[in-house]
Amino acid sequence: MAGAYPGPDAVGRGPRPVPSSSDDVLAWPTVTDRRPVDLTTRRQEYQAIPLDGADLDPDPIEQVRAWWADWTEVAPNEPAAVVLATADGDGRPTARNVLVRSFDERGATFFTSYESRKAMALLDNPRGALLCSWVPLLRQVQLLGPVARVPRAESEAYFAERPRGSQLAAWASHQSSVLADRAELEARVAEVDARFAGTEVPCPEHWGGYRLVPESIELWQGRPDRLHDRLCYERVGDGWRIVRLSP
Ligand SMILES: Cc1cc2nc3c(=O)[nH]c(=O)nc-3n(C[C@H](O)[C@H](O)[C@H](O)COP(=O)(O)O)c2cc1C
Repeated sequence: MAGAYPGPDAVGRGPRPVPSSSDDVLAWPTVTDRRPVDLTTRRQEYQAIPLDGADLDPDPIEQVRAWWADWTEVAPNEPAAVVLATADGDGRPTARNVLVRSFDERGATFFTSYESRKAMALLDNPRGALLCSWVPLLRQVQLLGPVARVPRAESEAYFAERPRGSQLAAWASHQSSVLADRAELEARVAEVDARFAGTEVPCPEHWGGYRLVPESIELWQGRPDRLHDRLCYERVGDGWRIVRLSP
């Protein structure tokens, strides 16, 4: 499959590509620029308000919606960004940010390339973890569950709403594959721009949505002395039960 994710040996582990322009060379730090990172003295006591099971909405979707609204108030940008973790068939984990475009009783929906590294992992092992890392609020939310493609019509409807530049990028970028240089990507963008000149850009077959259907949803709130509150909704039949986890 042209442009498909070439496998773990080709990404991250191969030889460092030769920089193609003087800009690339300048952007690379020399070893002497590096300083050890020491964050051990940056301790902080967490004073967040207590989280009690009795105060939680019995419906975790509503509860997470309320927390997401709080996060949207304070997030400097991209409040929809969450970390998606997957593992391939050999159990090798990877994680990356994605934008959650809807969150409701059906699950959390994000859009990506069906040829990407995450897509290959999901073919092997169709389960994921979504981590909402809302640290400025001393909160995190973790959703675990199976991940499946959304119906094609849903991907096409969302794709149609995207700006043309993003639509062209979905055609031009073989996500997670190795590029010779930036110019190769830009040449592909020019090519698809010309191909779709004067017409609407259709949704590529290799692009669409996934939905993580949560089987558990854990809410974490920071408390003093590292005695944090962790309350986890677990799916039981058609409903949910809430358990408290040790911090
Ligand atoms: C804030 C932010 C939001 C992102 N949103 C998406 C997204 O919605 N879909 C996507 O495919 N990649 C998104 N990315 C890029 C991914 O993190 C990642 O680089 C890409 O999906 C390739 O991942 P993979 O090689 O593990 O498949 C985002 C990155 C950041 C930093």
